[in-house]
Amino acid sequence: MNTAPTDTGLLSAGAGIAHTAIEPSILYFGTPVVLLSTENQDGSFNLAPMSSAWALGRTVVLGLGREGQTARNLGERPGLVINLPAPALWPAVERLAPLTGRNPVPATKADGCRYEPDKFIAAGLHMEPSHTVRPPRVAECPLQFEARAEPPRPEVSGECVIIEAVVRKVHADPRIVVPGTDHIDPAAWSPLIYNFRHYFGLGPQLGHSYRSQTPDPSAPE
Ligand SMILES: Cc1cc2nc3c(=O)[nH]c(=O)nc-3n(C[C@H](O)[C@H](O)[C@H](O)COP(=O)(O)O)c2cc1C
Repeated sequence: MNTAPTDTGLLSAGAGIAHTAIEPSILYFGTPVVLLSTENQDGSFNLAPMSSAWALGRTVVLGLGREGQTARNLGERPGLVINLPAPALWPAVERLAPLTGRNPVPATKADGCRYEPDKFIAAGLHMEPSHTVRPPRVAECPLQFEARAEPPRPEVSGECVIIEAVVRKVHADPRIVVPGTDHIDPAAWSPLIYNFRHYFGLGPQLGHSYRSQTPDPSAPE
């Protein structure tokens, strides 16, 4: 198929939008929030929200500020839990937003950021023991991935690190699992989405991928 831009071809199909060139301060175009539990040097546990995370098979790729406690912990103690909160947990996530487990607070942290040694208590969330790693799961999160981090790699700006976390064990609230299977029911599960620094849930289902392994509710009987 010829996909070269032409006045009458594919290019004109999108020409109804008069785009404006802008310089946004951030490019957070809407990704799920995760809560990372990691182990501090003294054996206590840290908890941090982040949204620069995506899954590639059994690996979850994480983008983290280089000077945060989470990146430091993962460089030294690779066990972690990737906890996925549902939309209703956004206030607990936001309670964690101005906190760091690092003391003293690095100068690179956002204004108003303060040290907090017990972020589970500060957020009103509860620890649940993990099976394969030392950091605990967040009991309130319907999906929890126990994982092991590969060594952090610098990201191109030098401000962040990129970490590949290999998932070892998945825990799910039975209410979001298709009964009798290992499939998450996408009609029952919704991630919490961080959309240009605002919290959203998912809207109604729009369609069904040909790769889906759960029933298509719109399919003819
Ligand atoms: C919803 C949300 C998403 C965030 N996403 C990221 C992220 O993807 N990467 C990151 O490094 N920090 C992210 N942050 C900021 C960290 O949570 C923040 O820097 C925190 O102080 C890190 O804690 P720590 O220093 O104890 O690791 C996010 C914060 C919120 C509230």
